[in-house]
Amino acid sequence: MYSIISIVVSYLLGSISFSYLFGKWIKGIDIRKHGSGNAGATNTLRVLGKGPAIMVLLLDAIKGVVAVLLGQWASPGTEGMWIPVLCGLAAIIGHNWPIYFGFRGGKGIATTIGVMATLCFIPTLIAGLAAIVIIAITRFVSLGSLILTALLPFLLWGMDRPVPILLISILLCIFAIVRHRTNIVKLIQGKENKLGQKRA
Ligand code: G3P
Repeated sequence: MYSIISIVVSYLLGSISFSYLFGKWIKGIDIRKHGSGNAGATNTLRVLGKGPAIMVLLLDAIKGVVAVLLGQWASPGTEGMWIPVLCGLAAIIGHNWPIYFGFRGGKGIATTIGVMATLCFIPTLIAGLAAIVIIAITRFVSLGSLILTALLPFLLWGMDRPVPILLISILLCIFAIVRHRTNIVKLIQGKENKLGQKRA
């Protein structure tokens, strides 16, 4: 029973869209109508600036950390990794499709980092560092995000990590591709926003 409750609570937690709330609090705007239209840290940087963007990045990642910890607390040793994994997944689904904001949320990368860093720190650190290098070189956050999620399944497989974590990483890679489909088209067309660019 606690397991089911922890998954539902994780979804509700993930549904808190900090970029939306900061947009409302700071400028009285719906961030989804500005910049790239995404309710995430990168668009917060574009629309609201560095301070709010760092806050959104941290808070969105913390949602993922808390969801996994909640799952671990709710299922001590019984269901193995499954409940923490499902709680993490629920938080990311909440972030992407939030119940409080018309199911129009973000692309889930910060929350994915929080979830995966809690489930498997070293592979996430390696994928995260690779993403940072890609972003530093190309200035495309979307490309770094996609590479981060694409690398994780290979790293987890190579490092022989538990099956539930490998499976969630594959699912999160698919989520990231689906949520970044507009970015992918723009990357191919050479029209994608670069970090530091103000306009979408
Ligand atoms: O995590 C989101 C990022 O990869 C892309 O954001 O606003 O440029 O579409 P954005």
